[in-house]
Amino acid sequence: MDQNELKKMAGRKAAEFVHDDMILGLGTGSTVRYMVEAVAERVKNESLHITGVATSRRTRDQAEKLGIHMKSVDEVPYIDVTIDGADEIDKNFQGIKGGGAAHTMEKIVATASNQNIWIVDESKIVDQLGRFPLPTEVIPYGSTKVFQRLADEGLHPRFRLNEDGTRVTTHSKNYVIDLHMKQIQHPHLLQDWLIRQVGIVEQGLFLDLVNKVVVGTQDGPKVLDA
Ligand code: A5P
Repeated sequence: MDQNELKKMAGRKAAEFVHDDMILGLGTGSTVRYMVEAVAERVKNESLHITGVATSRRTRDQAEKLGIHMKSVDEVPYIDVTIDGADEIDKNFQGIKGGGAAHTMEKIVATASNQNIWIVDESKIVDQLGRFPLPTEVIPYGSTKVFQRLADEGLHPRFRLNEDGTRVTTHSKNYVIDLHMKQIQHPHLLQDWLIRQVGIVEQGLFLDLVNKVVVGTQDGPKVLDA
């Protein structure tokens, strides 16, 4: 099976954790697209009453088109479960997200959720975080100064670029600076340092947040409890 089939497997399996009357956070990315499709099928076939909360415009548009009733994160009192993709997960269930530049919205929804489920293909499970460049979201004003601070700290920053060479911007019109560190030895210390840097809105380390990981593997879907 190729990577897309494994993503689909994980996404469809995770849709089984959805129940009637749930407020459901919907993540972002190619794995999430499969999950949203599967949830929409269940909503239709089983007449489920689900309220979705999206972490990006892309996901909201897809879910609405498929008939899932959507609200914004500020319109709901809490979120029961959020199902989202990830870019890397280590053996301690710590993760990196933000490959799709949606990590700030994803983290807002994740931290408003009673439970978080991640859906990944098996290539995303790693021994140590960091091979996937760690995304940060940075306010444009003063971003060169932030970039320099990150470089001085030895974090190998690069502005994320579009194909035409312009800078990628997030939904909030901020830049993305990826940290090409190759290995992250101490994720909590790095997170604490990044949080203290003025101009960085959010960064893609998602630590101590996930409750369950659904992995698409060549041997079928695996559900890991954190
Ligand atoms: C979006 O910003 C990311 O956090 C995605 O959830 C992550 O990149 C996983 O994406 P795929 O499911 O497309 O691999």
